[in-house]
Amino acid sequence: MIIGSDHGGLELKQIIKSYLENRGISVEDLGTSNSDSVDYPDFGERVARLISKGQADKGILICGTGVGMSIVANKFPGIRAALVTDDFMARMAKEHNNANVLVLGGRVLTQDSACAMVGAWLDASYEGGRHQKRLDKIARIEKEIRSE
Ligand code: RB5
Repeated sequence: MIIGSDHGGLELKQIIKSYLENRGISVEDLGTSNSDSVDYPDFGERVARLISKGQADKGILICGTGVGMSIVANKFPGIRAALVTDDFMARMAKEHNNANVLVLGGRVLTQDSACAMVGAWLDASYEGGRHQKRLDKIARIEKEIRSE
């Protein structure tokens, strides 16, 4: 699992890393690593680019609200980044949207609720079926936009 944050998501990122490691999941942290003010696109890009290129299969991004990170990540082909605020959204993000990036807001979530969302996303399975044709449409749109 790869993970990244800006300064607004740093504190929650440390909690999520411990949560993942306690579940036996190895985590590669792509920064930021201290509380200095940084630009979230720099860290969103690192995580999203690796997944987009197939060099990692999923990741977590955290900024203050999660909004900036979700905007950045969804610029990359093949990225399905989901900004979630509760367990249901986290579960649906996997079951229906097959989200490969979970995005959290470090300044808007409690630590416990954020861990629960990560758990719900990890424990859920993509349902495929009727949802696949919708993901296929997104992939088609992505391809068409690139060739316009
Ligand atoms: C940083 O101050 C803040 O703008 C950032 O963490 C995030 O919330 C952006 O969407």
